[in-house]
Amino acid sequence: MPELKIAPSILGVDYGRMNEHLAELAPFSDMFHVDVMDGNFVNNLTVGPPVVERIQTDVPLDCHLMISDPDKYIEAFAKAGAYSITIHAEASTDLKRDVALIKDQGVRACVAVNPATELEVIKEVLPELDMVLVMSVVPGWGGQAFMSEVLEKVSAIRAEYPELDIQIDGGISDKTAPEAVKAGANVLVSGSYILKAQSPSEAVSLLKQAIAAE
Ligand code: DX5
Ligand code: ZN
Repeated sequence: MPELKIAPSILGVDYGRMNEHLAELAPFSDMFHVDVMDGNFVNNLTVGPPVVERIQTDVPLDCHLMISDPDKYIEAFAKAGAYSITIHAEASTDLKRDVALIKDQGVRACVAVNPATELEVIKEVLPELDMVLVMSVVPGWGGQAFMSEVLEKVSAIRAEYPELDIQIDGGISDKTAPEAVKAGANVLVSGSYILKAQSPSEAVSLLKQAIAAE
């Protein structure tokens, strides 16, 4: 299994001092997970390429596009500095084309599946991906409860792809991370558990301890 990576979601970051806040999180972050919402694919709005462009950090930016017609925005996010771009299987009208578009930009390609979406939908593109995202909540908000039933999908992908980065997003904490890792996930997105903790660095240590103890 590939190495464990922690990706704090910047959904809860203090945007008034975004770069300072991210600098505090950087020492224990393997990636920053940038949640992009368009008020259409999901009922919420967040940030677009101009904000991504203004992020100053050495931590790779993992852009999770919860937007309709992602093909229209792939180039803009790549130019803004994305290290990886995730599009939703439910939002793309041509998954194969859109994965190729991401790769053409020289960016790591990832596809996300909602809790209700079957793996069958991404079967054809899976061999081409650098990462797959199994959503463990219905996308749109932070702070929702982890849906452990999605772990069946994680195990099924891990059985076929031992080296693939498998990301899990939604409701990750020291309580839920161990089962996610046991099922085969190695890239853990965490929003409220880390960002709302009194000490985010301690929260990440606790999370890693809980995984090691499993
Ligand atoms: C949900 C987002 C998540 C969210 C995770 O739509 O994709 O990345 O920020 O937040 P928590 O960890 O609080 O569930
Ligand atoms: Zn996300």
